[in-house]
Amino acid sequence: MNGCQAQSERAVPVVTVDGPAASGKGTLAAGLAQALGFHLLDSGVFYRMLGWKALQSGVGLERVVALVNLAAELTPQFRGEEIWLDGENISLSLRRQEVGTAASKVAVLPEVRLALLRLQRLARRLPGLVADGRDMGTVVFPDATCKFFLTASVETRAERRHKQLIEKGLSSTISLLLQEISERDARDESREAAPLKPAADALIIDTTLIAAADVLALALRHCRQCLA
Ligand code: C5P
Repeated sequence: MNGCQAQSERAVPVVTVDGPAASGKGTLAAGLAQALGFHLLDSGVFYRMLGWKALQSGVGLERVVALVNLAAELTPQFRGEEIWLDGENISLSLRRQEVGTAASKVAVLPEVRLALLRLQRLARRLPGLVADGRDMGTVVFPDATCKFFLTASVETRAERRHKQLIEKGLSSTISLLLQEISERDARDESREAAPLKPAADALIIDTTLIAAADVLALALRHCRQCLA
C-alpha cells in the first residue's frame, strides 16, 4: 500500500485525493496541482451542480430518470475560480449546506454516478490531472499514478468547514455542521455505488493534527517519487 502505481508510457498521469467532507482534500489537491503544473478536478462540483439544479427546478432527489436527464444537460463553464451554469455564476450557491446535502443524496444513485462519469474523465488532459473527490482512486481513475486518502476527526472537519463558510460570507454553526457532516459521511460511506473508502493502493493521511502546508510537503514528496 505505497500509493504509487506503475505508469504506462502514454497515459496522462493522474493524482487522486479522496476523503470525507472537509478532510483537507480540496486544499491539498489545489496545492499539488499548482506545484506539479497539473489540471485540477473538483469532482464534488458535478454532484453539487446536479443537486443545485434539482433544487432549482423542483425535481425530487430520488427521481432517477429526471436526474439523469438533468445530468446529461449539464454544460458548466469554468472561468478561473468561477463556475457558470445556464448563464449564471453559481460558485457561491454551490457551497451552501443544502446544496451539499442534495449533492450527497443524488450521489447515492448509480445511474446518476454513471451519467457524471464521462464529464469527470474529460478532465484527464496533459500534462496531468489532480482529481479530488470520494471515488477518484477507486472508480473514476483506478489507474492513477499516485493516490491519497485523507481523514480527520469529525470535530476538526466541522471547525474547518465553519471557517471556510464564514470566509465566504455564508453563515452556519459548528453544531449544525457536525450533524450535517456526520450524516453526509454516513450516506457517502454506506451507499452501494462507489462508497467512500480508500483505494487499496492509496496512501492514507490523517490531517487532524497536521498543518495544511505539512500535508502538502509530505504528499508532494510522495508524488514526485511516483511520477519519476
Ligand atoms: O466534495 P463535496 O463536499 O463538494 O461533495 C459533495 C457531495 O458529492 C459529497 O458529499 C458526496 O456525496 C458527493 N460526491 C461523490 N463523489 C465524488 C465527489 C462528491 O459522491 N467523487
